[in-house]
Amino acid sequence: MMSLYLAVLVLCMSAVYAAHMFDSQLEGHWHLWKNWHSKNYHEREEGWRRMIWEKNLKKIEMHNLDHSMGKHSYRLGINHFGDMTNEEFRQLMNGYKQTTERKFKGSLFMEPKYLQAPDAVDWREKGYVTPVKDQGSCGSCWSFSSTGAIEGQHFRKTGNLVSLSEQNLVDCSRPQGNEGCNGGLMDQAFQYVKDNAGLDTEASYPYLGTDDDLCHYQPEFSVVNETGFVDIPSGKEHALMKAVASVGPVSVAIDGSHDSFQFYQSGETVGLTCFCLFLSWSEKWGDKGYIHIAKDRKNHCGIATAASYPLV
Ligand SMILES: *[C@@H]1O[C@H](CO)[C@@H](O)[C@H](O)[C@H]1NC(C)=O
Repeated sequence: MMSLYLAVLVLCMSAVYAAHMFDSQLEGHWHLWKNWHSKNYHEREEGWRRMIWEKNLKKIEMHNLDHSMGKHSYRLGINHFGDMTNEEFRQLMNGYKQTTERKFKGSLFMEPKYLQAPDAVDWREKGYVTPVKDQGSCGSCWSFSSTGAIEGQHFRKTGNLVSLSEQNLVDCSRPQGNEGCNGGLMDQAFQYVKDNAGLDTEASYPYLGTDDDLCHYQPEFSVVNETGFVDIPSGKEHALMKAVASVGPVSVAIDGSHDSFQFYQSGETVGLTCFCLFLSWSEKWGDKGYIHIAKDRKNHCGIATAASYPLV
């Protein structure tokens, strides 16, 4: 009886405690943040979203405090993922399907022997890159990575930068093994564009962030053709550097499940030279939608594990 009573008491206490758990000093900031990111919650949801947000905020403050004392090389910031636990973030945002076997193989990248990879190359300055896009709450990162690489290669060939359709890939590349908002692989998307002999433009086939529509590819709105794709030898960061230096932006898959990814804001993950990649998480995330990852041959975040680019 005693133990039951104790349990009941503890339960009641936690209920009372929960109601007073918020930091009242954050009240104004919470409302501002909600408005800024257009967040609307159901009454019953708001309480625990606020709790998660406060917890995240504290974690970020601690990280940045340590950063100011030289402990980390990058800063974190509260962004539109601020009300999500890391588990939710991982589920929502990691649409890259890691599989043991590759269904389609590209040709293997041959490192140009005499090419000395420069310390830095910024393809954005050279016109290869469209503005940062936003995948929304659909696990379609693979489609954004694919269009990004095709847009770059199309620009390289024609001098025209045309934004291409992720929705076209989401809706139509299931036969190649992709699973819409539940994930996919860039190589399977490249294979689709090759098989399909085209990919529609973003303007003609706009992004919805859902995967319940049927494929409605229209050849008259396609501007590209692909003859295949090239895989960078897995784990060979040196080869990846040479590929980026010689052909343009390359698709990579990275492990973005860590906390520091959810709230990454600026700075480099170790080292001075780094890869700069864009993630399709809108400009509100990271350094205007970009992250800098150290280029020190240690394959950070698995950056060189599954890199590839299309042949346009
Ligand atoms: C791509 O190839 C297909 C099939 O050969 C052709 O019909 C189409 O016009 C080509 N598209 C472009 C943009 O060149």
